[in-house]
Amino acid sequence: MIKLLYYGHSCFLIETNKNRILIDPYFTGNPKTKINPNEIIADHILVSHAHFDHIGDAVAIAKKNNATIIGVYEIINYCSKQGASGFAMNIGGSHTFEFGDVQLTPAFHSSSLPDGSYGGLACGFLIRIQNKLLYYAGDTALSCEMKLIGEMNNVDVALLPIGDCFTMGPVDAAQAVEYIKPNVVIPMHYNTLPQIEQDPEDFADKVGDLSRVIVLGYGDTYEL
Ligand code: NI
Ligand code: MN
Repeated sequence: MIKLLYYGHSCFLIETNKNRILIDPYFTGNPKTKINPNEIIADHILVSHAHFDHIGDAVAIAKKNNATIIGVYEIINYCSKQGASGFAMNIGGSHTFEFGDVQLTPAFHSSSLPDGSYGGLACGFLIRIQNKLLYYAGDTALSCEMKLIGEMNNVDVALLPIGDCFTMGPVDAAQAVEYIKPNVVIPMHYNTLPQIEQDPEDFADKVGDLSRVIVLGYGDTYEL
């Protein structure tokens, strides 16, 4: 059993029988978050890129839980300097962790660390756990690479940004669904800031019968 819990913006917790994998832990400063990051329990933390709304509380949570941060080399280097343990990867690379396999996918987006330094390339993740495949796109534009992801994999659940302005919007995200061909798509990265106000039901209309759109509210869980 795999549970996917949505903490708003682009933050999710994947819960299995043995592991708790947090993705892009943006709690502090997140206007939609009611949870204190000190309450979060996780053993692995995936960080898609270095912007504050994604790296967020990763270092603090990793140190408190003795969790491993997974991301590109530049982000792991930054987190390690602050005393958190991490596992560095880069775009295209895969690694098997105790919870499953992670591959870093391309994302068309910028990435700078909170101190202004270079954050490496932004990425997404293909996460295989218990024969289920999740594609977490991160912050990204629509790209042809998504077509390749759809051709090479059977994606069970795709987590796609729909907010527009900083990432693809609903029209491009619906095209991404056509490329990726996931069984289920969950929209993210919307309604946290005024610039990314979107109606997820409008996105669901655009996707139509290409896939099943599940709109998760804050704190909602989806079971795979
Ligand atoms: Ni970003
Ligand atoms: Mn973002």
